[in-house]
Amino acid sequence: MKTEDMMKIDEAELAERLEFAVDVAEEAGKFILDYYQNTDLDIELKGDLSPVTEADRGAELLIREHIENKYPEDGVLGEEFPELESKNGIKWILDPIDGTKSFVHGVPLFGTLIGMECDGELLIGVSRFPALDEVMYAAKGQGAWWKIDGNEPRKAQVKQNDQLSQSVFCTTNYARWDKIGRKDALDKLCSGTLLTRGWGDCYGHMLVATGRADVMIDPELNAWDAAALVPILQEAGGHFIDWNGKASIYSGQGLSVSDAMKDTILEILAE
Ligand code: IPD
Ligand code: CA
Ligand code: CA
Repeated sequence: MKTEDMMKIDEAELAERLEFAVDVAEEAGKFILDYYQNTDLDIELKGDLSPVTEADRGAELLIREHIENKYPEDGVLGEEFPELESKNGIKWILDPIDGTKSFVHGVPLFGTLIGMECDGELLIGVSRFPALDEVMYAAKGQGAWWKIDGNEPRKAQVKQNDQLSQSVFCTTNYARWDKIGRKDALDKLCSGTLLTRGWGDCYGHMLVATGRADVMIDPELNAWDAAALVPILQEAGGHFIDWNGKASIYSGQGLSVSDAMKDTILEILAE
């Protein structure tokens, strides 16, 4: 692929890049597991008081090194290091550990997120849960897949339920709703759904993509928290969108939902 004749990536190259991202996420996961549940884990607080560890930084460096070696013209936007500009319109957007708070508490619901966009369109998403040996991945037009314990992958598919009263609703952190002045919407979702659980971070979004939950909402998100989720939800027959219904990863808020439940949830968030 040449920079001068910037093109859309063809099906075969997309599949190859997806395989690359799945493999790199697996390697990053092995690196992260060396630090998981270590009692002497070194935890620093960042400027926003969120925790970061040597596992976060080391895993991001590992992923970046693979990208820079194999695709030197591609850009990289990651949580822990400065952005590397793209020379060809392709950018990897990644979060080495999404759910660092779960990770530092020894809870397995944290994931490595790798997304890839081309000319602003998200084409690839990988979400790997190292401590669960579970991975979800998708490339545009090639389906969304879910693999546990190294078994054969199965198709990831959102639920078809359109009844709010029968829905499983997840969110990361209840206090955030209050912080942004939307406790009204949270209360409505909690009281209107069948079950509310705090299975948060990327795990909650992947529960929706695999048909185990109906709605996952996060009132505070960065692009690296969201990029990998978009193609996975779309290929699973659902949506990862902002609170205005757009497939944007830069709005600061996100929602994973099926097509059947989308309008009902957007209505509650808009009130
Ligand atoms: C956090 C998660 C969480 C979101 C926070 C993020 P981190 O990421 O994505 O769901 O609500 O805003 O900071 O720090 O665990 O990578
Ligand atoms: Ca994150
Ligand atoms: Ca992170």
